[in-house]
Amino acid sequence: MKLGQLEAEVKSRKGFWMNIKLPRKLRQALLSIKDIFRLIIYSVFPRLEDIRKRRGWRRHYDRIFGEVQDDFLTFMNWGYAPLDKQQEVLHLEPEDEPWRSSIQLYHHLTSQVDLRGLKVLEVGCGRGGGCNFIRRYSKPSQMIGVDLMKANIEFCSNKYAIDGLSFRQADAEALPFDDGSIDVVVNIESSHCYPDLDRFYREVARVLRIGGFFLYADFGSEWEMAKLKHILNNHYELSLIRTQDITANVVEALRNCSAQKKKMLLKEFQDDKQIQFFSDLARLEGSWGFNRFRDRMEVYFSFLLQRVNLG
Ligand SMILES: C[S@@+](CC[C@H](N)C(=O)[O-])C[C@H]1O[C@@H](n2cnc3c(N)ncnc32)[C@H](O)[C@@H]1O
Repeated sequence: MKLGQLEAEVKSRKGFWMNIKLPRKLRQALLSIKDIFRLIIYSVFPRLEDIRKRRGWRRHYDRIFGEVQDDFLTFMNWGYAPLDKQQEVLHLEPEDEPWRSSIQLYHHLTSQVDLRGLKVLEVGCGRGGGCNFIRRYSKPSQMIGVDLMKANIEFCSNKYAIDGLSFRQADAEALPFDDGSIDVVVNIESSHCYPDLDRFYREVARVLRIGGFFLYADFGSEWEMAKLKHILNNHYELSLIRTQDITANVVEALRNCSAQKKKMLLKEFQDDKQIQFFSDLARLEGSWGFNRFRDRMEVYFSFLLQRVNLG
C-alpha cells in the first residue's frame, strides 16, 4: 500500500475541524453550525453535496482496498455487537470467529427474514465475506454479490468456490438483473458512496419481486440519515417495516475489537504515524472515527423494507 497517499486521503476526509483540539461540546456545536451552513448551501444546490461526498467515499475505498492484497481481509464494515447480554450468542465455525463482529452486522439484518431457498443479491459486496456467510449459514438457493470495484470482484471470484455463490461487477444505480427477479436485496455500509440514492432505491424496487425484502444498513450524520429516512418513509414501491438505530451496537463492536486490532497493528507497524493512521481507519477506540460514532456526530441505522404491490 502507498501509505503517504492513504494518509492524505484520510486527512482530507477528516477536514479542518478534526485536526484542531477543542472541548467535545464546543466541537459538537461547531459541527452543528457547519451542518446548518451546509444545509443552507445544499438546499439551494441539492445535488452538489451528494455528488461531492459520495464520490469522495468511493475514491477512498478504491484507493485503500484496491491495493490491499491480504487474502484474510474479507469484510469491510464497522461491525455490530448485541447490547443485550442475555441474547443468544451466534454460533460460528472456528474459521469465521475472527470476523465475528462484521458477521454479526450481517446476522442482525438477515436474521429478520428466512432466506432458505431464496435468490439473494448483495449490492456493494466488497470482498465477499458477507455473501460467503449468508450462503453457508442462511442457505439461499442463490447468493449473488455485486460491487462497482473490479478488484473486489476479481478477489471474490478467486477466493470463493462455493456452489450457488457468484459475483459480478455492477453499479448499484444500474443493476444488471431483470424486473422482479430477486427475492431479497442486502446492502450494508455501501450506499453512502452512491451519488444518486433515489436511483439506487428505484433499482432495488425494480429487481425485487412483489413481497421481496430489502435489508439495508448504513451510516451518516444525523441530518443525512434524517433525509434518507424521509425518502424511505415516502417510497411508493418500498414499504418501511422496521427502522433501528444501531449506533450503540456499532460503538460496542468497535470497542470490543479495538485491543485485538491494535495488537495486529503494533505487530505490523513500528511508526507511530502509521499506527495512528490505521487506528483512525479501523475506528479503534479513542480514534477520531470512533469518537464520531460515540458522540453521535455520525449515526448508524438499519432498515427492513418490503416491495409492495402498487395495483
Ligand atoms: C465499506 S464497503 C462494505 C462492503 C461489504 N458490504 C462489507 O460489509 O464488508 C463498501 C463497498 O461498496 C462498494 N461500492 C461503492 N459504490 C458502489 C456502487 N455504486 N455500486 C456498487 N458497489 C459500490 C465499494 O466498492 C465497497 O466495496
